[in-house]
Amino acid sequence: MGKENTMNRRAKGTFLAAALAAIFPLAYGSIERPSLLPTPPMGFNNWARFMCDLNETLFTETADAMASNGLRDAGYNRINLDDCWMAYQRADNGSLQWNTTKFPHGLPWLGNYVKAKGFYFGIYEDSGNLTCGGYPGSYHHEELDANTFASWGVDYLKVDGCNVYAMHGRTLEEEYKHRYGHWHQVLSRMEHPLIFSESAPAYFAGTENRTDWYTVVDWVPVAGELARHSTDILVYSGAGSAWDSIMNNYNYNTLLARYQGPGYFNDPDFLIPDHQGLTADEKRSHFALWASFSAPLIISAYIPALSKDEIAYLSNKALIAVDQDSLAQQATLVSRDDTLDILTRSLSNGDRLLTVLNRGNTTVKSDIPIPWLGLTGTGCTYTAEDLWDGSLQKISSHIAVQLATHATAVFRISLPQACSKVVPTGLVFNTASGHCLTASSSCSVTFQSCNGQASQIWQVTSSGALRPLSQTAQCLTVDDGSVKIQACDTRGSNAQKWTYAVTGNLKNAKTGGCLTEGSVQMKTCLDERNGQVFGLPSGVQLS
Ligand code: GAL
Repeated sequence: MGKENTMNRRAKGTFLAAALAAIFPLAYGSIERPSLLPTPPMGFNNWARFMCDLNETLFTETADAMASNGLRDAGYNRINLDDCWMAYQRADNGSLQWNTTKFPHGLPWLGNYVKAKGFYFGIYEDSGNLTCGGYPGSYHHEELDANTFASWGVDYLKVDGCNVYAMHGRTLEEEYKHRYGHWHQVLSRMEHPLIFSESAPAYFAGTENRTDWYTVVDWVPVAGELARHSTDILVYSGAGSAWDSIMNNYNYNTLLARYQGPGYFNDPDFLIPDHQGLTADEKRSHFALWASFSAPLIISAYIPALSKDEIAYLSNKALIAVDQDSLAQQATLVSRDDTLDILTRSLSNGDRLLTVLNRGNTTVKSDIPIPWLGLTGTGCTYTAEDLWDGSLQKISSHIAVQLATHATAVFRISLPQACSKVVPTGLVFNTASGHCLTASSSCSVTFQSCNGQASQIWQVTSSGALRPLSQTAQCLTVDDGSVKIQACDTRGSNAQKWTYAVTGNLKNAKTGGCLTEGSVQMKTCLDERNGQVFGLPSGVQLS
């Protein structure tokens, strides 16, 4: 493991590229070649607000509104159509056709309209026989459809995964890999490859055994530029809690930080700023959390009717700069208890980001110690900018936050030259159980519910040692087949050296075994079994 480094994030793709070369031989875009989409996409999509109730006027009105209300100039420069734009039949030559009642001037006309207003134009299809809405899918028509889209001026394609069935002896996971791999090849061969938004992982989320989901999230970064990893955000007319839906997708995103880097983005789904079930703080939290993740910022709302306040928070320059930061690092959990989530990451100019979410139902106050932010200097004073109001404060031992229910604070912390060293610091947690690796004063380690204590916050050193903040002279050690903490060996014993793979496995250099949640804590490394996949702090180098 090692220090902060852009290449570290990219290097993880190399391992995957070798393994996946047979399936994805024409690497274009993706984590492999970040130039196609170096920072996450921003824009509009109709789905969560209007579902199949879409037409030309909605898109022209939306483009007009975004061009005049400041959203386009804030960076929201994509207008994307979702499902249900098509006619139910392909044309005699096999081409897709738009629904002429919904789009009387046609999609090439609409594409020109939005481009004239300064937007890119995106579209939706499906890798199965039919889209989720029952329109013609692209299966066996991939090349024709990609070229049709390009001829309409489209540069961004979301490929959904409804109506996909295992064939030719493949498992369902292999079937998705085969189809999305084929799409990748088709798109790579184009003169101007379309940006490829993949929905495959979403079809494997939510099962108790996560191995298939982990397997799919392994290959999507090499095949495309972003992937929907989990459930749909609650649609406008949907039953249930919009906040719970945001928290659900937020949680999924926290499990996948290691996959993200310039060129590939985890996609926790749309922003829904006009959802009537959300409070002002919840809407702002949604935006701030997605920005802290460097997630796609695709708004699904009736934009012409957004309020001034909604446009103002969505246009927050400082938070958009975080979202679009060229490191594309995803904020990771430093600490979690029943109410408070604390997350950090680095930014390309060396600043640290601190994001604090109050998941609880009452106001919370907290003093967050500086070492929790990965800053280890002594006698240092840092400047923290509150990204909501731009106010500055000097901090040296801790930063004080007070948050109303479901509110989120975000600080950008600049580090004086002499205090600029960052040690990746945060939770080591099992991404299936959610349990946190916990050190005890008796030197045992266990997996427990996350409780916000320093005994669950680990520093990951450049030589691959893990030290709990509660006892920084102790290191995670394999001793006689069991895992404990012992005095750190300054000569760097292999028993205290760990490597972190993109698979989420934490492997010990001495035994070659993998940390495993369960009664026995070191086991042979298996293919991404539930017990062996962990989230670690951002900035940890992948092996
Ligand atoms: C879902 C997808 C949504 C939307 C919808 C269209 O599978 O997750 O984002 O695209 O299909 O039918």
